[in-house]
Formats: sequence, C-alpha cells, structure tokens
Amino acid sequence: MEKSPQWGTRAGFILAAVGSAIGLGNIWRFPAVAYENGGGAFFFPYLFALLTAGIPLLILEFTMGHKFRGSAPLSYARLGKGKEWIGWWQVAVSFVISTYYAVIIAWAMAYAVFSLKLSWGNDPGTFLMGDYLDRIDLAGGEIGQFGNLVPGVFIPLVLVWVVALGVLFAGVKKGIEMANRIFIPTLVFLFLIIVIRAITLDGATDGLNAFFKPDWSSITSSKVWVAAYGQIFFSLSIAFAIMITYSSYLPKKSDITNNAFITGFANSSFELLAGIGVFSALGFMAFTQGVEVKDVVSAGIGLAFVVFPQIINEFPAFREFFGFLFFTSLVLAGLTSLISIVETYVAAVQDKFKVSRTKAVMLGGGLSALISLVFATQGGLFFLDAADYFINNFGVALLGLIEVIAIAWFARELRNFQKHADDLSDIKLGAWWRICLAVITPVVLGYMMFDNLRTNLTTDYEGYPREFLFDWGWTVALGALFVAIIFSLLKWKKGALEMNGKEESQ
Ligand code: PHE
Repeated sequence: MEKSPQWGTRAGFILAAVGSAIGLGNIWRFPAVAYENGGGAFFFPYLFALLTAGIPLLILEFTMGHKFRGSAPLSYARLGKGKEWIGWWQVAVSFVISTYYAVIIAWAMAYAVFSLKLSWGNDPGTFLMGDYLDRIDLAGGEIGQFGNLVPGVFIPLVLVWVVALGVLFAGVKKGIEMANRIFIPTLVFLFLIIVIRAITLDGATDGLNAFFKPDWSSITSSKVWVAAYGQIFFSLSIAFAIMITYSSYLPKKSDITNNAFITGFANSSFELLAGIGVFSALGFMAFTQGVEVKDVVSAGIGLAFVVFPQIINEFPAFREFFGFLFFTSLVLAGLTSLISIVETYVAAVQDKFKVSRTKAVMLGGGLSALISLVFATQGGLFFLDAADYFINNFGVALLGLIEVIAIAWFARELRNFQKHADDLSDIKLGAWWRICLAVITPVVLGYMMFDNLRTNLTTDYEGYPREFLFDWGWTVALGALFVAIIFSLLKWKKGALEMNGKEESQ
C-alpha cells in the first residue's frame, strides 16, 4: 500500500484550498452578480452569506476531512451508516463539472494565443465564439447537434488535460501543492497588473461608480439573498467534495478554523479585486463607445470571450500584452480549480477500490477527458451551457442542503465536530457555528431549492428546446445521483472503512 499522502506545509494546504476557490467564478461571475443584486448594497447579503454559510461550511468540511481522513465517500461512510451516497453524489457532480470546466480553460488558452495577434479566432476554420454567437442568433434548430470537433478547442484541451493530469500523477505534495505554489502567486501578480492598468483607463471611474453604487431597495428582495448564497457556495467550492478531500491530507496537528477563515477571506478579496478590474474595464468600454455602463455589463462566457476581446482591441497601448495577461490569468485560475475537482474522484476511486494513484488518475481523469470532447465540438457550447446550469442548480445547492441536514440533524455530529475543530484551532467555535449550520443555512438553502425547482418546472432555461433540456439538463443532474447510488452500493475492500488511529474511531 502507498503511504497516505499529506501536505508539506500549512501554506501549501491554504494555497491549494484558495486555488480551488479562486476560479472562473471569481472573475466572470462575481462582478455581474454583485452589480445586478444591489451593487454596493450587495455587500451586506454577501458578507452575511459568507459568515453564516460560507465559512461555517468550510469549517465543517475541513473538520470532516481531517477527522475521517478520507475522500468524500469514505468520510461520509465513516460518518455513519447509509450516508456514503452523499459523498459519491458530490463526487459525481464534480466529475460532470470537470468535463466541461476543462473546455472553458481550453478556450482561454486558445484566446491567450489569439491575443498575441489580436485575432480572436476569426481566422477561417477556427470556429470559436463569434461562430457560436452567430449560431445562437440564427439557428435554434441546430441546438442539440454535435457537428465536428473544433481543432482550435481540441488542441488546447489536450494540453489542459496533460497539465492537470500530470500534476495529479505527481501526487498531493509534489503535484497539487507544488502547482498551487507556483500558479496562485503568479495569478495574483498578473491580475494585479491588469487591475492597475484597468483602473487608470479613461472611464474607469464610471465603471466603478456603477459597480459600487448601492441600491438599498435590493436588500429586502429574497432574490438578492439567494444570489449571495449561490455565489458564496460556488465560489468557495463548497459541497463539491473538494474541501473534504483536501483537508483529509492535513497532518494530524493542523489548525482548522483559522485556515477556513483565511481561505474564505482570501477568496472574497480576490473576488472584490476582480470586480474592480472588470468594472473599470467595462467603464472604459462604455466611455469609448459613448454609451452607459449598464449597456455593456455582461458575465460569463460572453464577458470573457466576447466583451474582453473588444475591450483589449480598444486599449491605448500594449494590447497584445494585456490580452495575453488576462487570458493567462483565466487559465491559471481555472487550472487550479480543475485540479481540485478531479482530485475528488481520484481520491474516491483510490479509497474504495484500493488502486494506486496512477491508476485512479488514468481511469477517472481519462474518462473525464474523453467525455470533454463532446464540448469541443461545434455544438459544444450549448451542451456545456445546459449541463452547467442544471448540475449547479440541482447538484450544488441541493447537496449543500443535504450535507448540513445529514450532519446536523441525522448524524447529530455538530457538537463532536466542534470539539474536534476546537481542540486543534486557535479560534474557538461557539453556539453561533451550530446555529448557522443547523438552522440558518438549511432554511436559506431549502428556500433556494424550492424557488429553483419552481422556476425550472415552469420555464425552459434560455428558451432551449424542451427535449434538449431533458437530455442534457435533467438527465445529467439526475444521472449523477443515479451513478452515485450505484457506487455507494458496491462493497468496500475488507478493512477499508476502519480508521487506523483508535482515538478517532466513532
Ligand atoms: N470555485 C470555483 C470558482 O469560483 C468554481 C469551482 C467550483 C471550481 C467547483 C471547481 C469546483 O470558479
């Protein structure tokens, strides 16, 4: 048997957790979510969600991984009988996400290369965003057809997988920790250069005013609070099995609570930085086009791959350089998150089937890489969009809810977890922690789920054809649960469930 892996240093663990948390969501999701949900006033629901759900759940997941010393399925199995499926469900959701997250990183890689010539993929035969968008305008009928593999996506996609799986082959300390030690400081450095440039552009102040201007009336809207919770969950990679897996590699004597606070605040700081950078750039674009900031606000794929190239084209100087910097930042932010999601199923497969890390990476990573080819086809964007929307809405929020209910109400483990964390940590937890997890979070997430379900049963997301949404949305989301249940029914190898140190047996 291989020795169980461990982080080399405390900073290594924090960087890896922060690396998972800081992803595309920080850069292209947060700014628009904040803007649309009250601007400066969004700060309050956001901070509330961070302090009542984000950080308490991080503490919970760190404690769980550290206490049970296993991947998500193993940790849930050790938590108690009949709970293993929750771990597998989290792992299955992560698996699905990894298949398309890799493709988005591949786009960013392609765009980093395009920026060197400011060509943005318009060369004949490259088929990228411009063509996708034409299709959205023209041809509803084409949704649901694959078409050919797109070389401009396929080639960087291969590279993305080579890097991610290469890091995972190398292991926790020499691979994941090392990669994050290099990627995260580099990312922060590159991104700071971009932000400094952005805030000194003409029109930047208008952008920042639009971003920070508080709309106090938003505070009473439930939609805004739901958005705040959603952002915090996604952004901190909570309920994805990631933080449980990463904390299972913590040495026995490790601070839990302080680490969770550092991770949470580091992630939010980067989010704020991205908001400032993105809105300065949008202000600049509005200025050059002589329109208002609200007319150029966008998010997600459109912001990164359509609006940003336009902004870069307008830059006063060093366009190629800043274009390259921006897309390289996306690649770095994405890679560290991708590595963390793939590690969840690498660890799970290793734990359950007692195979080596190399085999687990080849099997799990290989399968995900193969499936990711679907999203590298001409019709790929639509599949990606539908899968992403459904897996997030019916995977993550729901899983967060199930997680807190399983631990707080069924296993009734909160007090034991609190003791476990308190014995190790500088900051001691109080009753506030248990109240957040047992009462506040379940109520908010429960409402969120209900609202979600109602919306999606009454309207078709993006107006996509219903059959397509059924096949690529609902089936993918429910399929993850189905696969999870099958995996949880398989037998553990003899002795695999027992803890080695008796001090932590249940
Ligand atoms: N936390 C990442 C972000 O903000 C997203 C992510 C979620 C990455 C789950 C991996 C797994 O973009």
